Amino acid sequence: MGMDRKKPAVLFVCLGNICRSPLAEAAFRAEAARLGLDVEVDSAGIGDWHEGEAPDRRAQAVARRHGIDISGYRARQVKPQDFKRFSHIVALDRENLVALRRMKPRGSEAEIGLLMDHVAGREGEAVDDPWYGGPADFERAWAEVTEGAKALALKLAGKA
Ligand code: 4NP
Repeated sequence: MGMDRKKPAVLFVCLGNICRSPLAEAAFRAEAARLGLDVEVDSAGIGDWHEGEAPDRRAQAVARRHGIDISGYRARQVKPQDFKRFSHIVALDRENLVALRRMKPRGSEAEIGLLMDHVAGREGEAVDDPWYGGPADFERAWAEVTEGAKALALKLAGKA
C-alpha cells in the first residue's frame, strides 16, 4: 500500500560496505539511469570497521573496468533511521539478511530481502564476499550484482 506509490528508496547492505554493496549500488544506479527510474540509492555495512573509507581498491578497479567510478563512495554503517528512510533494504548474503531482520525496528515498512532473490533461478543465493579472493572473484561479484540490480530495477520500473 501507499509505499508503492512513493518514490522508491533502495539501500544495499553487505558486511563492510567496501566491496559488494558499493558495487551493487553502482550497478543499480546505472540500471536505474538507463530505465529513467526515479529512485534514491545508497549502500551501507553491518559493521563499522571501514566507516568513512573509500571502497576497496579491487572493487574500485572492477567498477572502473566496467566504466563506473566509485572512488567517491564512502563506507558507513547501517543505522536505525535507514529502516524508515528506505522502502527496500537489499542484503548481499544471508548473514547480512539475518542481521538486518534483527535490527529492523517495530513499525518499519521496509521490505528486506536478498539481492539475488530478484534473479529468476537464483533466489536465496548469496553474492559471496570477495575480500579474500582475487580479481576473478571481484569480476564474479560484479556480474552477480549487475544481474540482481537489473532485475530489481526492472521490477521497480514496473517492467518485470
Ligand atoms: P564487503 O567485504 O562486506 O563486501 O564490503 C568485506 C570487507 C571488509 C570486511 C569484511 C567483508 N572486514 O571484515 O573488514
